[in-house]
Amino acid sequence: MYSEKVMDHFSNPRNVGEIDNPSGVGTVGNAKCGDIMRMYLDIDENQVIRECKFKTFGCGAAIATSSMATELVKGKTVQEALQVTNKAVMEALDGLPPVKVHCSLLAEQAIHAALWDYAKKNNIVIEGLSEPVDDIEELTEDED
Ligand code: FES
Repeated sequence: MYSEKVMDHFSNPRNVGEIDNPSGVGTVGNAKCGDIMRMYLDIDENQVIRECKFKTFGCGAAIATSSMATELVKGKTVQEALQVTNKAVMEALDGLPPVKVHCSLLAEQAIHAALWDYAKKNNIVIEGLSEPVDDIEELTEDED
């Protein structure tokens, strides 16, 4: 059911971890499955993504898509990184089962959230980037 690439990125995820003092960081979640993804970006003065790391509390497909997404955005400019859509991530992974498409969407949203944070911190506008939808609060809220 899963492609070899998905299994590879799930078993050996690339770029797991955090970046100290990131240029941008974004956390997103899916309220239905409860999975959470956080992306860290290190961006140089030419707006090129030097480093990208992630932490994912989620299913195997979410881990594989975050891993692939970090690989795809590395070396790209912030503008080019917007092209790393969930479709692009899925294609790079040779596809995902239909019930797992939302996991790749989480990867796209996490990149966007991190880019948004970077843009906000630096007072710049990344054309085509809109403020991320954020249902993370209800996922991390205390029950009591
Ligand atoms: Fe929700 Fe994979 S099941 S992110």
